[in-house]
Amino acid sequence: MVRIGKRDLGSHTDKRPYGPQSISFDVSFYSAEFVSGIPERAMSLALKPTRGPGVEKDVEPYRLFNLDVFEYLSESPFGLYGSLPLMISHGKEGRSAGFFWLNAAEMQIDVLGDGWDAESGIDWVKQKRIDTFWMSEAGIVDAFFFVGPGPKEVVRQYTSVTGRPAMPQLFSIAYHQCRWNYRDEEDVENVDAKFDEHDIPYDVLWLDIDHTDGRRYFTWDSALFPHPEEMQKKLAEKGRHMVTIVDPHIKRDDSFRLHKEAAEKGYYVKDAGGKDFDGWCWPGSSSYLDMVNPEIRSWWGDKFSYKNYVGSTPSLYIWNDMNEPSVFNGPEVSMPRDALHLGGIEHRELHNSYGYYFHMATSNGLLKRGGGNDRPFVLSRAFFPGSQRYGPVWTGDNTADWDHLRVSVPMILTLGLTGISFSGADVGGYFGNPGPELLVRWYQLGAFYPFFRGHAHQDTKRREPWLFGY
Ligand code: NOJ
Repeated sequence: MVRIGKRDLGSHTDKRPYGPQSISFDVSFYSAEFVSGIPERAMSLALKPTRGPGVEKDVEPYRLFNLDVFEYLSESPFGLYGSLPLMISHGKEGRSAGFFWLNAAEMQIDVLGDGWDAESGIDWVKQKRIDTFWMSEAGIVDAFFFVGPGPKEVVRQYTSVTGRPAMPQLFSIAYHQCRWNYRDEEDVENVDAKFDEHDIPYDVLWLDIDHTDGRRYFTWDSALFPHPEEMQKKLAEKGRHMVTIVDPHIKRDDSFRLHKEAAEKGYYVKDAGGKDFDGWCWPGSSSYLDMVNPEIRSWWGDKFSYKNYVGSTPSLYIWNDMNEPSVFNGPEVSMPRDALHLGGIEHRELHNSYGYYFHMATSNGLLKRGGGNDRPFVLSRAFFPGSQRYGPVWTGDNTADWDHLRVSVPMILTLGLTGISFSGADVGGYFGNPGPELLVRWYQLGAFYPFFRGHAHQDTKRREPWLFGY
């Protein structure tokens, strides 16, 4: 049976030049009480059944399709920015098993509730089996079974296939202070000084997109940040680091060297007609590097050298955002499925791995920058199996309310169970304004997130901790 969900493509048409295609199969977990995994979604650790007795008719399968989801809900099975097609079963006496399907196309997975197949005569109470149904739009069946016997062994077996998490730099497991945006060098200096004045520990200060010259990454707004090296040096003297944002969309502006070079070298993803794909993102009209190509990844990596990234110093690290990839005017705010990558491969075949390759290219760039002697630090929003080798991820644009605080716990635990042990949620909630009680509680919880960063949308009130009466 094929049940690829209905897609609202708005005014977009997916040409499907090779016709419709799909793959599906069943996977049964024996001696299982519940299953977990297949992030990313803002919901409980245990995956609720999507079909079977008591499940409403219109419940959809879990979807794995990396998307930039605006104001995501706190209790929803909807797929978010990253995808890990790994499911783990949990049974009596701590017994677990895992199933992993290495496939980067859109995937949908049904979890069938006890008794879903009433006619089979199975004694569901005795059997304790969880049946699941997997479907993908494209790709091949490249699947792995992990036998456990416990959850720890499943994670170990899974990461022996997809890679162990990178060892983080010590500074990066401390507290990070972020905001869209710290306005200028004076703002940075004040925030930094206030942490000291109030004796609040923090180790890293972050700059969002507006530190750049018109959202051309690797540049600085010369009026607001005229002395980037000095600014980083001042922080570094106190043992602190800075992180700047570098996104995968490149402003289509012929006076921007990066764009000119990428266009001349033919490094952009192509549209279905073979022209450089042109989509809308933060800088306006933008193109997207074909990160699937190792030559382009290596070229990109070189952009992080101190010579190429003018104004960067050894205490500067990187944040990769919008790498689902996010395309504001694209279908579902992403890249059309019939866009073309290296070797004429359609985007639909590899969509969920785009952000992973971007993260990989950036992380390898920092490794090269440090001559192999400096561990990279690169935060990514999108992810795919193996992302753990390149740096932490965060749970994207959450909201300043108690439900989002609560759901951050199963979200981060699920990521840990599926190999991404270094992750966190925006402390305080990205959208909206937390009251003092919520902010205090969020800091108390956030201190236990592996990745601990306060962050907020540009429309929110300033919320550095001392503004709350400390
Ligand atoms: C989306 C990211 O999720 C958010 O953290 C960031 O502040 C904005 N993009 C602007 O860069």
